[in-house]
Amino acid sequence: MVRFTGRVAIVTGAARGIGAATARRLAAEGAMVAIVDVAIAKDVVDEIAAAGGRALGYACDITDKIAVETVFHRVATDFGGLHILVNNAGITRDDLFFRLSVDDWNAVMAVNLTGAYHCAQTAQKYMVAQRYGKIVSLSSRSALGNRGQANYAAAKAGVQGLTATLAIELGPYNINVNAVAPGYIATDMTAATAARVGSTPEDHQRAAAEQTPLGRVGQPEEIAAAIAFLASDDSSYVSGQTLYVNGGAR
Ligand code: NAI
Repeated sequence: MVRFTGRVAIVTGAARGIGAATARRLAAEGAMVAIVDVAIAKDVVDEIAAAGGRALGYACDITDKIAVETVFHRVATDFGGLHILVNNAGITRDDLFFRLSVDDWNAVMAVNLTGAYHCAQTAQKYMVAQRYGKIVSLSSRSALGNRGQANYAAAKAGVQGLTATLAIELGPYNINVNAVAPGYIATDMTAATAARVGSTPEDHQRAAAEQTPLGRVGQPEEIAAAIAFLASDDSSYVSGQTLYVNGGAR
């Protein structure tokens, strides 16, 4: 399947995990991909190039609006446009609510929600002008509530509200806006969660798998496949949706 020939995609937080898998998937299907992360992710860029794809790395902290505008302008100049934005960068700062610090609240909001706002608002300028665009943002199953994640759940629920609203405002310009809400995916993020609760990644994954109808945790490539669907014209009449990709968990 080659769905992205001639398309330029920005993937934030693409140095590793779900973002890196998404960048690899979009590039494999012909997209020119900007790998955006806090530092240039040379290994992901090199890997895509070695597989015959086109990618460039950019350092950008998405909590900084000016930095986002500068980098997105460079991407559009380097590749000649901007068609797809994947708002993937995210962090967790888990704690029980009664002791959740304002710093941990603000940090999670700044990356997961305000960062998505910075990137979407910057990207839509290019997309509105060309009357074409796809914005896919990462929510989470935690948006429905998760112990120890009041900040993250609120930010990821915010992503769903942002998505539904942007679909209304940007739809008239032929821009599709959707979100993907993964369940438990084996990445550095969930490995860090395991370490925080005194578990190993393997034991933590086993416990999550037991709660999941498909009987296992997800892999980054399985989220990348859903993102690629929503970034492609296969989903041309899908907008304002949040797609849960969580192995059937309720
Ligand atoms: P990860 O922690 O492995 O990777 C996140 C990437 O985002 C890192 O490369 C990091 O450097 C980058 N990043 C963090 N802050 C940034 C900033 N200010 N500016 C630019 N880049 C920044 O995370 P993972 O697991 O790959 O998750 C990706 C997305 O999926 C996140 O939004 C996460 O919240 C979401 N998600 C992950 C789930 C999981 O089980 N792994 C479940 C549900 C949602």
